[in-house]
Amino acid sequence: MSMRTFSSYLFFIFIFTHVSLTADYPVSGKNGMVVSAHRLASEVGISILKKGGNAVDAAVGVGFALAVVYPYAGNIGGGGFMILHHSDGTNTSVDFRETAPEFAHPEMYLNENGEYLPSLSREGIISIGIPGSVAGLHYAHQKYGKLSFEEVILPAIALARNGFELEFYQAELLNSFYDEFCKYESSKKIFTNNGSKYKNGDLLVQKDLASTLELIKINGPEGFYRGETADKIVTMSHKLGGIITHGDLENYSVIERKVLKGSFNDYEIIGMPPPSSGGIAVIQSLNIFENFDFAKQQWGSSNYIHYLSEIFKRIFADRSKHIGDPEYYQVPVDVLISKEYSKIIFNEISDTAASAETIYPGDFNQIESHETTHYSVIDSEGNAVSVTTTINSAYGSKIVCEGAGFLFNNEMDDFSSKPGEPNQFGLIGSEANKIEPRKRMLSSMSPTIVLKNDQPILILGAPGGSTIITSVIQVLINVLHFGMDIKQAVDVPRIHHQWRPDRLDYENFGLSDDVISNLIKRKHIIGNKRIVGRVQAIFVDQEQNVYFGASDKRGFGSAIGY
Ligand code: GLY
Repeated sequence: MSMRTFSSYLFFIFIFTHVSLTADYPVSGKNGMVVSAHRLASEVGISILKKGGNAVDAAVGVGFALAVVYPYAGNIGGGGFMILHHSDGTNTSVDFRETAPEFAHPEMYLNENGEYLPSLSREGIISIGIPGSVAGLHYAHQKYGKLSFEEVILPAIALARNGFELEFYQAELLNSFYDEFCKYESSKKIFTNNGSKYKNGDLLVQKDLASTLELIKINGPEGFYRGETADKIVTMSHKLGGIITHGDLENYSVIERKVLKGSFNDYEIIGMPPPSSGGIAVIQSLNIFENFDFAKQQWGSSNYIHYLSEIFKRIFADRSKHIGDPEYYQVPVDVLISKEYSKIIFNEISDTAASAETIYPGDFNQIESHETTHYSVIDSEGNAVSVTTTINSAYGSKIVCEGAGFLFNNEMDDFSSKPGEPNQFGLIGSEANKIEPRKRMLSSMSPTIVLKNDQPILILGAPGGSTIITSVIQVLINVLHFGMDIKQAVDVPRIHHQWRPDRLDYENFGLSDDVISNLIKRKHIIGNKRIVGRVQAIFVDQEQNVYFGASDKRGFGSAIGY
């Protein structure tokens, strides 16, 4: 672990154990609910709902607001996925994942000996994918929103132009990346306090970002992918030795995709299809889990943790081989999410012994025929929106686009730069996710909506790279199987396993000593204490017609209902 990563880890451990800004109970509302990673963004969403906007208007307003108040992850320099459930019963998804630049190629992060150089895909100008957020949010609004685009983007512009007060944790987070921001004049200008560190209560004013958002307000995506902002992006890339062209920006396109559908007992699961692995991983896990007959009291038992981690290993093994951008690789979606395949996996799991070396991605010939931010919104009519966006690492590439005021992502690291080499999340990949021009990199983002009787009952998602998948699955099981209330389901400790490395990580107070010793007896390798995801979720009490929101205690977000 680098010193920087280590100090960030210590910071989060400190915050996690000493501070809680979020409510300890589910927040309720009868007319609407917005849950996001920042209070000001959630307030923007609620104000849009109160003005008569629908859930899509609110979600788009929240997305742009997060780009201002949550530069750690919310940003117009990244991309994401949106799942929508309309009150008429239809579902759809919007894919605004970043793409590889046209001059990207499979060897771009290898040296002359063919060795992978991780720093190239994770840091600096060639780690940047072509951003999709502006196009995606605008697309969703134009097609499904009710208010004018101006009305939904104006609150973000005001927050950028007038500034907002940094809370303690935000000042500390920015300060913890001070050295990295100082490497680039454009980043130092925006994300240091005139070259110094921030204090609690300092005002963060982002005038360049306000001007960029103003251009988007006037011209829509053309205000970002062409003209002044596009020129700034290409100039910045060129100056630092990058490869982004005007053609890359002009050719960026949003894809509306058919959602993935699965079921878990009486519930219908609506998930994101590839190029995210999230929907497949969530549905596949729940399918396998359906084969178990757990008693309620088993939550947290060594038996439960054993099965959970054995399931996680198998879905991550499949992710490593079978999932990539469907425009470039034929993903066997139907098989992966079939109940039949899940039964085969279930039957492989031993009651008594963990497996790792013996787990490989599934061989389907045996059968005929798995830093970021999330927000969840529901309106009074039952329209529900689940959005996860990312710039990948904390503050993405740490490079602010000069004169445009936003941070670029470092999403290229989500490709498999070399088969078998882990990316920053330790995830390994293969041919399905190799780098190709204009291809979308594989994601773990898992925006999810669960329906019961065709109506939303859960809307959720999380940031956290590979831990997105394992967080979302555990919260789903906590509610749908163990019957926890939404706040409890989100806050109780989680575990994480992603097959490689063979390591069962867990949260503080997550595993008691006797559970650990039982797991060791079953040959599990106990890993590190760490934070596993930060979930933003809404539960709908269909009988009482009340919305309950929960923002994860691991973060500093906010659930607001009305
Ligand atoms: N950048 C994290 C993900 O998309 O999975």
